[in-house]
Amino acid sequence: MVSWNFVELDEVGSTQAVVKGLASMGSPEGTTVVAKTQSSGAGRLQRPWASPRGGLYMSFLLRPHELTQPEAITLAAAVSVAEGVRLSTGLVAKIRWPNDVLLGKKKVAGVIAEAQFYKKELVQVIVGIGVNCNSSFKAHDPLKDEDTSLVDELGEPIEVSELRQAVLDSFSGLYERLQAGSEVLSLWRQHLSTLGKQVSIKMKTEETPFSCLAIDIDAGGGLVVETAGERKVLRAEDMEWLREQA
Ligand code: BTN
Repeated sequence: MVSWNFVELDEVGSTQAVVKGLASMGSPEGTTVVAKTQSSGAGRLQRPWASPRGGLYMSFLLRPHELTQPEAITLAAAVSVAEGVRLSTGLVAKIRWPNDVLLGKKKVAGVIAEAQFYKKELVQVIVGIGVNCNSSFKAHDPLKDEDTSLVDELGEPIEVSELRQAVLDSFSGLYERLQAGSEVLSLWRQHLSTLGKQVSIKMKTEETPFSCLAIDIDAGGGLVVETAGERKVLRAEDMEWLREQA
């Protein structure tokens, strides 16, 4: 199991950046930075991550031995958030490939995994997790209803430290399974809302989005899609955005 060492802070720019600094000074696996608020939290493709007080914002350091694909870490982190949310609130969250955690059609949490390789070997991954917990999104812009928070869904605030522990416990177990080479595909399939749906996808290198049917996930965390009778595997790092159509 991962042994978590917490650095708890009030306000930071980004917990990802703080862990990056600690990693460069040789901090061990399990170093975890938690902040009450972030002034420049960011997600995939440097998109800003709003971090008002009352949310869960944390980043932790992994130094994997037996892993080659960081995509599996992204999925493990997203599944651990879904599991943590279920255990601490009873709400059933799903994952929109590759890193959005949804309640219904709205995003409640996001994860990011930033990997570092040395001579093609995966030596370090910094995982960042942001969960909208106790600040309401209803009061914000009613026209922008793509996001939600746990308090909006439950009608009452949650204990953030309890959620944090549930997420980390779940992640620890999944990380052990990944490092042991155990089967995880069935777990990914069980949690992904994307599979079996028609989706629109915008790839980084293409101007126009395209529609396809999301069929499966592969062992490397790629999304298997079918378009015009042809199957292909999409990698998260090549994709700009994905929308589920139905
Ligand atoms: C995404 O949805 O694109 C991922 C969002 C990840 C946000 C978290 S909040 C804690 C950590 N610090 C950051 O700056 N980002 C991650």
